[in-house]
Amino acid sequence: MKTFYITTPIYYANTLPHLGHLYTMVVADTIARSKRQRGIETYFLTGTDEHGINIERAAQKAGRTPQEQADYVVSYFKRMTSAFGLDTEHGGYDIFMRTTAPFHYQGVSELWRRIAKAKTPRGNDAIYKGHYEGWFCAPCAEYKTEDEYQKPKNEGDPPTCLIHETPLDRVSEESYFFRLSDYDEALLAAYAKPDFIRPEARANEVISFVRGGLQDLSVSRLKTSVSWGVPVPDDPAHTMYVWFDALSNYITAIGFGNEERERAVGFEKFWPALHLMGKDILRFHAVYWPAFLLAAGIELPRAIVAHGMWVDPNGRKMSKTLGNTIELDVLQKHFAVDAIRYFCLREMVFGQDGRFGYENLIDRSNSDLASGLGNLSSRTLTMIEKYCDSRIPTGKISEEKLLFAKRTGVDTDETTVAGFIETARDQFLLYFENLAFSRALEAAWSIVARVDKMITDAKPWDLAKDENQKQTLGAVLYRAAEALRWLNVLLFPVMPQATRAMWKQLGLEGDPGKIDPATLKWGELPDGTSIGEVVPIFPRLDKAQVMSAIKSPESRSPEPPAPAAAEGVTSFIEIDDFAKVDLRVGQVLSAERIPKADKLLLLKVDLGEAEPRTILAGIAQYYEPEKLVGRKIVVVANLRPRKLRGYESQGMVVAASYGEEGKPVIATFTEDVPNGARLK
Ligand code: MSP
Repeated sequence: MKTFYITTPIYYANTLPHLGHLYTMVVADTIARSKRQRGIETYFLTGTDEHGINIERAAQKAGRTPQEQADYVVSYFKRMTSAFGLDTEHGGYDIFMRTTAPFHYQGVSELWRRIAKAKTPRGNDAIYKGHYEGWFCAPCAEYKTEDEYQKPKNEGDPPTCLIHETPLDRVSEESYFFRLSDYDEALLAAYAKPDFIRPEARANEVISFVRGGLQDLSVSRLKTSVSWGVPVPDDPAHTMYVWFDALSNYITAIGFGNEERERAVGFEKFWPALHLMGKDILRFHAVYWPAFLLAAGIELPRAIVAHGMWVDPNGRKMSKTLGNTIELDVLQKHFAVDAIRYFCLREMVFGQDGRFGYENLIDRSNSDLASGLGNLSSRTLTMIEKYCDSRIPTGKISEEKLLFAKRTGVDTDETTVAGFIETARDQFLLYFENLAFSRALEAAWSIVARVDKMITDAKPWDLAKDENQKQTLGAVLYRAAEALRWLNVLLFPVMPQATRAMWKQLGLEGDPGKIDPATLKWGELPDGTSIGEVVPIFPRLDKAQVMSAIKSPESRSPEPPAPAAAEGVTSFIEIDDFAKVDLRVGQVLSAERIPKADKLLLLKVDLGEAEPRTILAGIAQYYEPEKLVGRKIVVVANLRPRKLRGYESQGMVVAASYGEEGKPVIATFTEDVPNGARLK
């Protein structure tokens, strides 16, 4: 049985993900689904990179332990992957890998030991102990050479990172080194394998980097400098370099160095992988990682594929500092998941950078999905409903009706349209195989255009008026429906939810996700099939309305609440004091403003009790009442009720408060939790 293994990078657990991170997951998910659809046993990995100084610092800033910081980011990631249908439950990833998993510690230690025992192609020890002195950029987790940093303006100040514009740390310490310099020839030989690094332009960059000469790589930091990481085997005074730790996740996840994982997944079964990543981290994947694998005597990856970066409409890279990241909460709130997936794959020419603007997303969604594919599906099915009693017609034109059909200009030979669609399918698959997703989608949309034209030219609404044209009408509608069946199979990996919904509307059994598009045969749509209920799949978006909703401050997800510790805890209480406070999960059932009280909202909150509670909250200046409905919040349930503005408030809503005006941010949950659950 053929197997396939695909990975995304594992994302740093120091910040919340944005569109850029989502993108790699969407592409990998699409590829994984297309492999599964073709009957190939597929393993798809994504996850988080949880060690290193950045996580330590982010945790410190947030008043958390590094593990709490990682858990917090992971819970957000998981909520998002579920909302975007990328998790296991929705047929997406097979593992959400975390480098804090015990089996990973075991696997990465095994990899280190193997390399530490190995000799390089030039007969030297692959790992040696030395001394490192250099400028280290914590956000990049990399030492910087002179051409990679900005010299300081004032003498004595540290240089700054060209990417992050933050000061570098001077690091001078004992360190283990990986003798990368001995692997140049072996790497260049590996790059000779066709399509090992894609796209070709990027492969050439990597080749010239290696030809330019490689320096040995520091692969450990003293535990006193970086403690949050995997200890070096047999020398716990050292912590492994975070990239050594992170890259090895690709093999530890499937069983390298751990028998239980090997049994559960299978390194032997799935390795080598196709690694997908942004071009920003290609060097780590195309130079360091293969060199580690060569040293350990492990087969090299199947392919290393770098995609371009999403930039803002002005061409600037997305970053938290510039404030131009596309937040996943906002995307999710205003757009259908499949529209986002389609946009990601259609808009970005794979491998090149792509501009992201909400307007573009709305335009594409309206033109290609609502007016294009969606309209083709609903107009075809509506006509089948109306003219064919909701059953797929036969599509055949008998000898005696041929002459009538010919007069209308409708092609009496269905092989013409079938041939066109088969060719488009072949093109689609070829482009898809070459990761040219936007081209593949163009090929699919050539089918949409062709079938639309066929319908418009044939004018079924006129044919329906003439008894002699009944078969002609049936033929046109059959062809359109059959084309839709093909489109749903082809497009399944890109839009799993929408294609499944359209499939059902066509009245079809089974799952388009289980049909190999290469095996589609024209005419296998069974006639007589009763179609399902016709509902529009891609509603039209009102551009002005969506844009103004996106721009409203309500739409922005509040930054993760600043922890109390930031302001310093001043006195302590005992656990019993805390236990006196009965904090409960509540769900807002209704929310409204109170006349003449511009700060208060009147909430009805379900705490899992017989009756909902009435609670007044001083948040009216910051929250639109209707946006709160349905939201899970935290309520102090045993606060003595008190009267306010003629209402009895039976509890208090818990919110963080920050800034000079004490802006409230309501506490909420990132995971599902029943109403009335107690917080302890
Ligand atoms: N932790 C490392 C990767 C270790 S893999 C063994 C890391 N993490 S990251 O959180 O910074 O994620 C980088 C990846 O996120 C990129 O390679 C890319 O896949 C994705 N993207 C982040 N920003 C992006 C864009 N603006 N556009 C497209 N993808 C982007 O590096």
